Amino acid sequence: MQNSEFSQKPHDRMAAYLQSDMEEVNRLIRERMASKHAPRIPEVTAHLVEAGGKRLRPMLTLAAAHMCGYQGQYHINLAATVEFIHTATLLHDDVVDESGQRRGRPTANLLWDNKSSVLVGDYLFSRSFQLMVETGSLKVLDILSNASATIAEGEVLQLTASTDLKTTEEIYLQVVRGKTAALFAAATEVGGVISGAPDDHIAALYEYGDALGIAFQIVDDLLDFQGDQGAIGKNVGDDFRERKLTMPLIKAVAKANAEEREFWVRTIEKGKQVDGDLERAMQLLQDHGALADTSVAARSEAARAKKALAPLPDHPVKDMLTDLADYVVERIN
Ligand code: IPE
Ligand code: IPE
Ligand code: MG
Ligand code: MG
Repeated sequence: MQNSEFSQKPHDRMAAYLQSDMEEVNRLIRERMASKHAPRIPEVTAHLVEAGGKRLRPMLTLAAAHMCGYQGQYHINLAATVEFIHTATLLHDDVVDESGQRRGRPTANLLWDNKSSVLVGDYLFSRSFQLMVETGSLKVLDILSNASATIAEGEVLQLTASTDLKTTEEIYLQVVRGKTAALFAAATEVGGVISGAPDDHIAALYEYGDALGIAFQIVDDLLDFQGDQGAIGKNVGDDFRERKLTMPLIKAVAKANAEEREFWVRTIEKGKQVDGDLERAMQLLQDHGALADTSVAARSEAARAKKALAPLPDHPVKDMLTDLADYVVERIN
């Protein structure tokens, strides 16, 4: 439900509240995405970074640090680290997924080539490590390096699981927890850790990030079928064309009759798609209530995120994080 007191979206309210920090984060990102020796690097990074993006993950780090009363400057480094890791994974992901659109622009792999995307992605990963080392906190290094490994693991698991009709919702959630939620959880957790917050607050921040990340990816997968191309900045139907078994498809496959199963075997397992298949897939998702059921699953993760915030101290940011969990699933409507 939308709070009528605020016409702004929770994400924009948080951006306004964190504006001066976010300006520093953006300045640091620009400074560190440069390269003296390889002109291709700033070309590619500027293309992606200047396109904007929601900057959700760095905002989560800043928000967590504010909520935990942090007085230092390293939350800026950590927020930039998190956005660099995110940007690097997007560069790699668009190569793997052969995607043509990102943040409303042609992807780097389309404008330049796969080689540039992979190598500039590697460069950004390395830059992210430098940024976090500057904080001097081994605990933070531990969390973010683990998260990087977990993201890669999730993407690789998806490689083998996504075209296999035996893939269960449990495996799907394992993929999502890896490729998406790990970075959300690390983003909130390091905000608490750098502030020296007590363990129960850090655990709460971790769980909030984990649940929010899962809700976010489930919604992203839902919007891939029912979103508005202009609003999501990516092509609708890409996951089906890429033969990616996301939650809506897994739910429809589970309810398929013999003839429908044949359809899924041909289009997803064998990848032999013809004109009209996306429309047929959409119809089957509707018929089996798969989109509605997926939305229920996303809402339940958003509820877990909100509940996780309970042990944290009262703070304006805490209310924004609560609203953000609602907003992530409201994108569906
Ligand atoms: C895209 O994340 C990758 C997913 C986890 C679905 P965002 O939707 O947060 O991407 P930007 O940074 O706003 O472009
Ligand atoms: C996004 O995953 C990349 C990571 C989370 C590493 P997806 O492939 O599902 O998302 P989009 O649709 O390309 O943003
Ligand atoms: Mg992708
Ligand atoms: Mg992908």
